[in-house]
Amino acid sequence: MGIRIAGTGSYVPETIRTNADIEKLVDTNDEWIRTRTGVEERRIAGADETASTMAICAAEKALAQAGVDGRDLDAIIIATISPDYIFPNTGALVQHHFQCKKAFCFDLSAACAGFVSSMETGLSLMRSFPQKYRNVLVCGSDKLSVIVDWTDRNTCILFGDGAGCALLQNDGGPEPDTILASSLHADGGYTDVLRIPAGGSKAPASIETVQAHKHFIYMEGRETFKLAVNAMVSSSEEVLATAGVTVDQLALVIPHQANLRIMQAVAKRLGVEDDRLFCNIRHYGNTSSASIGIALDEACRSGRIKRGDLVLFTSFGGGLAWGSMLLRY
Ligand code: ACO
Repeated sequence: MGIRIAGTGSYVPETIRTNADIEKLVDTNDEWIRTRTGVEERRIAGADETASTMAICAAEKALAQAGVDGRDLDAIIIATISPDYIFPNTGALVQHHFQCKKAFCFDLSAACAGFVSSMETGLSLMRSFPQKYRNVLVCGSDKLSVIVDWTDRNTCILFGDGAGCALLQNDGGPEPDTILASSLHADGGYTDVLRIPAGGSKAPASIETVQAHKHFIYMEGRETFKLAVNAMVSSSEEVLATAGVTVDQLALVIPHQANLRIMQAVAKRLGVEDDRLFCNIRHYGNTSSASIGIALDEACRSGRIKRGDLVLFTSFGGGLAWGSMLLRY
């Protein structure tokens, strides 16, 4: 069927918030943040920028690269934990922008595993209904700066805003799919470790929830760290075994940009050297659903990966949700 990534795109807001800026907000320092996380700066979206506007900016680049008219999109999947609204879905807002009236749209909530989860979902639609879904836009877009508690030094140092996307295309040709294997997992037993406590049907917004800062990301960092490394390693091994590919054959590993130490620990356990590990966390922090999409776009446009290269994505986030994907770019 020949499903492949026909284009990639990314967008990050212009405003940069450095570690020095964060030193003015909470009791922390640049050295602590850099050595514990690898983050030096992150992008902060403006008041008029949202998950949908950032997704649109990223999508325009992917469509241009692929030479596809936005009106020809058949489906739009937006991975996000910071949608413009609870409803309508962010995908519908993107659909309206591109005027692709026939496109099926929805949001996918898998936190930092959102991009890989959306890729598998888009791929599944295309494999199930090849005539119907020829151009599927998969995008991770998050404006985390509005759900981060800027008085909580445990979390505010980590996160940033941005969007990254891939245009999946099935041109009907005889070539095999370029996505070789994927594995997605979830474990709902860890809601106490990583969540936004209020704003949903369990604890609707009230003066009390706002005053208690319950609309912001709550994370037990140390516990999350351990879970993340184990989950990313095991799901990576799973997809490599499924595809019959060895670590030596990989041109690049693109992990979710959670924390530099997490990425390095995963790479070490897999036996991947630094030059085959893609990291851009120092510039953007952890952009949750967007991070692998942004990294993929940068890796493609900078020539770090070329057509035919084997690339591994691996991700982990709130849910818990995690998973990996192996593709031949
Ligand atoms: N500046 C200075 N000191 C700090 C800061 C800070 N910003 N934050 C915490 N500390 C202190 C703590 O209070 C603690 O002090 P103590 O020893 O006196 O108690 C000490 O530093 C160590 O704290 P830890 O929490 O153990 O620090 P750790 O090395 O684990 O780093 C971090 C914290 C960066 C959050 C790390 O645990 C991490 O990256 N975790 C995983 C994040 C992640 O991957 N999340 C998943 C995706 S997010 C999503 O799905 C939305």
